[in-house]
Amino acid sequence: MKNKVAMITGAAVGIGRAVALQMAEKGAKLVLVDMNQETLANLEEELKAVNAEFMTAVCDVSDEQAVNGVVQAATEKFGGIDILVNNAAIWRVRGLFWENSMDTWRKLLDVNVMGVVYCTNAVLPKMMEKGYGRIVNVASVAGVYGNANMSVYSATKGALIAMSKALAKEVVEKGIVVNAVSPGMVSTSAELDMEYTKETNKCYAGRTGSDRENADLICFLASEKNGYVVGQNIQIDGCRKEI
Ligand SMILES: NC(=O)c1ccc[n+]([C@@H]2O[C@H](COP(=O)([O-])OP(=O)(O)OC[C@H]3O[C@@H](n4cnc5c(N)ncnc54)[C@H](O)[C@@H]3O)[C@@H](O)[C@H]2O)c1
Repeated sequence: MKNKVAMITGAAVGIGRAVALQMAEKGAKLVLVDMNQETLANLEEELKAVNAEFMTAVCDVSDEQAVNGVVQAATEKFGGIDILVNNAAIWRVRGLFWENSMDTWRKLLDVNVMGVVYCTNAVLPKMMEKGYGRIVNVASVAGVYGNANMSVYSATKGALIAMSKALAKEVVEKGIVVNAVSPGMVSTSAELDMEYTKETNKCYAGRTGSDRENADLICFLASEKNGYVVGQNIQIDGCRKEI
C-alpha cells in the first residue's frame, strides 16, 4: 500500500479505526472521514504518533455535496483516491418492522446506502482514468440472513451487498476491484484494544471478531495483492448461527 491513497469512512472508531491504523502502518496516505469530530481528533493523535500522512474531514456521508468536497480536497492534496473503504453506517437501530418510522427508514437508507453511492461516485471517475482502484464495502451478516428486530438495517446491508456485486462486474476490466465484507458480531467500538473479543453464542467460534481481524480482511481486499477476489461478499463471522 506504499503511497496508495485510501479514503475510509466512519474512520474514527471500531473497524474503521483499525483499518486506518493498519493502512498507515503499510504506508498508505489516508483520507479519514467521520461525522464525529471528537473521536476523529483522537485518531489524529494516534496517527501523528506513527508519523502517518493523512487528512481528516468531518463529514456526513449522506450529504452528497460535502462528500464531493472532501474528495476534491483529497484529490488536490494527494492526486486522487486509490482505495475506498465504505465503512460508515448506522446500525444500532432495533425494533419490529412495523415499529420503524418512515424517518428511520429514510435515515438508514440515506447513510448506509446513499452514503456509499455518493462516496463511490465521487472516486470512480479518477479510478477509471488511472485504471486502478480498490473498493471495499462494509456490509453485515444482517444483509445476508436478515436479522429480526433489525429489518431496516438488514435491508440497507442487503442492498449494499448486491450493489457491490453489480458494480464489480462493471468495473473489473478497468482495473477496479470491488468487494463487500460482512462482519458478524464485532467487539464494541468504544474498546480501543483492537484484539479485544468476548464470548457469544451467535457463532460456532463462540466469540466475537476483533477489529484487527476485520481490518486484516479489508486491507487484503484493498491491496494490490488482490486482483482476483472480485465481486464477492466475504462473511467474517466465526461461522454464524442463523439466529
Ligand atoms: N460492530 C459490529 O458488530 C458490526 C457487525 C456487522 C457489521 N458492522 C458494520 O461495520 C461498520 C463499522 O461498524 P463499527 O461497529 O466498527 O463502528 P460504529 O458503528 O461504532 O462507528 C461507525 C463510525 O461511523 C461514523 N458515522 C456514522 N454515521 C456517519 C455518517 N453519516 N457520516 C460519516 N460518518 C458516520 C460514526 O461517527 C462512527 O465513528 C458499519 O458499516 C457496520 O454496519 C459492524
